[in-house]
Amino acid sequence: YVIGVDLGTSAVKTVLVNRSGEVLFESSQPYPLYQPKAGYSEQNPEDWVEQTLVSLRKLMEMSNISAEEVAGLSFSGQMHGLVLLDKDGQVLRPAILWNDTRTTAECRLIEETLGADLLQIAKNRALEGFTLPKILWVQKHEPEIMEQAAVFLLPKDYVRYRLTGDFAMDYSDAAGTLLLDIASKSWSQTIAEAFSLPLSLCPRLVESFEEVGTLLPEIAEASKLTANTKVFAGGADNACGAIGAGILNEGQTMSSIGTSGVVLAYEERKELDFEGKVHFFNHGEKDAFYIMGVTLAAGYSLTWFKDTFAKDLSFDELLSGIDAIPAGSKGLLFTPYLVGERTPHPDANIRASFIGVDAGHSLAHFGRAVLEGITFSLRESIDIIRESGKTINEVISIGGGAKNETWLQMQADIFNSRIVKLESEQGPAMGAAMLAAYGCGWFDSLQACAAAFIRPAKTYEPNPETAVVYNELFALYQKIYGQTRELN
Ligand code: XUL
Repeated sequence: YVIGVDLGTSAVKTVLVNRSGEVLFESSQPYPLYQPKAGYSEQNPEDWVEQTLVSLRKLMEMSNISAEEVAGLSFSGQMHGLVLLDKDGQVLRPAILWNDTRTTAECRLIEETLGADLLQIAKNRALEGFTLPKILWVQKHEPEIMEQAAVFLLPKDYVRYRLTGDFAMDYSDAAGTLLLDIASKSWSQTIAEAFSLPLSLCPRLVESFEEVGTLLPEIAEASKLTANTKVFAGGADNACGAIGAGILNEGQTMSSIGTSGVVLAYEERKELDFEGKVHFFNHGEKDAFYIMGVTLAAGYSLTWFKDTFAKDLSFDELLSGIDAIPAGSKGLLFTPYLVGERTPHPDANIRASFIGVDAGHSLAHFGRAVLEGITFSLRESIDIIRESGKTINEVISIGGGAKNETWLQMQADIFNSRIVKLESEQGPAMGAAMLAAYGCGWFDSLQACAAAFIRPAKTYEPNPETAVVYNELFALYQKIYGQTRELN
């Protein structure tokens, strides 16, 4: 067996997986999120460690297998969060998370100081969520903390350090710090020097499937595992989500619709320049990358709509009415900018719109328009990726968007691509388990592991007539951003 640990933002999830890729047991433990001021989002790293150990112990207890049978474990983690440690490995302040937005001034400073070097080296724009702006915030606002800082880690790297005693960071997570030279896979001296940061602050870099140690004896005891359990580095949640959906070869793309929505495509061409319109990060697969576009309020738009206008209906009831509505919701368009947007408009101030409301529109028209608006937003990311010369004719759909037949067909028609739904889907936790399975030598490659572990369940082909209708509406949808920006 192997174990995948997914250190999320609201909870840690652990899964026990056998050699055929079946998830036999899973266990989840929540932890609090602290918002001491507007825009702040912090967690206590100790909570992650404690709850990971509880979750592992519960997993082992419910499975009733002997600890010796667990060959290894690996991680998926929420990206970008800053954990600062002193020279003795003690946490210096609460972790500042990916969804903390206090660092707008630091982002401007990074873009001004580095100019073209930023996209050249780090391949991404400076966004509030990323790690370097958080380090600069601490440097400016808490200089006494910064003086004591010996090393920084990302959330899952901190938990792994506590489990093994070893400091390391894998490339896929390091890619989200803005301190990594993405193409050459090394810490960037240019970026560190520009902000007077010593490179010693950056931990040793490793591959996601690399073994970084074994469990410390007291940890093995607390988690009901053994001190022989091998620990593999693991990766960023988006990289692990990609691995768990089998996005491991050229031409493979996934759309993941959770609270936010992601379009992610496998990439090997490191010289590509998207001018920061999409994220470009290192993959968990060796020397590979992925391109990612993000819709901030994807599933969240639907949840908001239901909670606000159809509280008494279940999601199924709400969505059952939309099948009878023709593509395009009879002229009603929705832009899902409820909390701002990331791709293709990195704009925290834009807000959502319904355009073309008619007296004949019912709740079902609005419901369908919301799904279409979310999917149009993801199509913008698909188009940016296609413009780079990549062919997208098959997309693996995971998350909430894969739970509804109408939405799956809508994705096929709006993306103009075949959509594949998987048989059982565990998200990033499965990617973490696969890194452990490959790391343990069960397979010759991650691809071979994916072939054994991941099974397609159903495919959806685009309907050519509906695709034409959606193409025309998409052109209208794309005008809304520019025309409503001034109003916000
Ligand atoms: C990616 C990002 C989120 C976090 C969530 O850039 O900010 O997807 O990884 O955990």
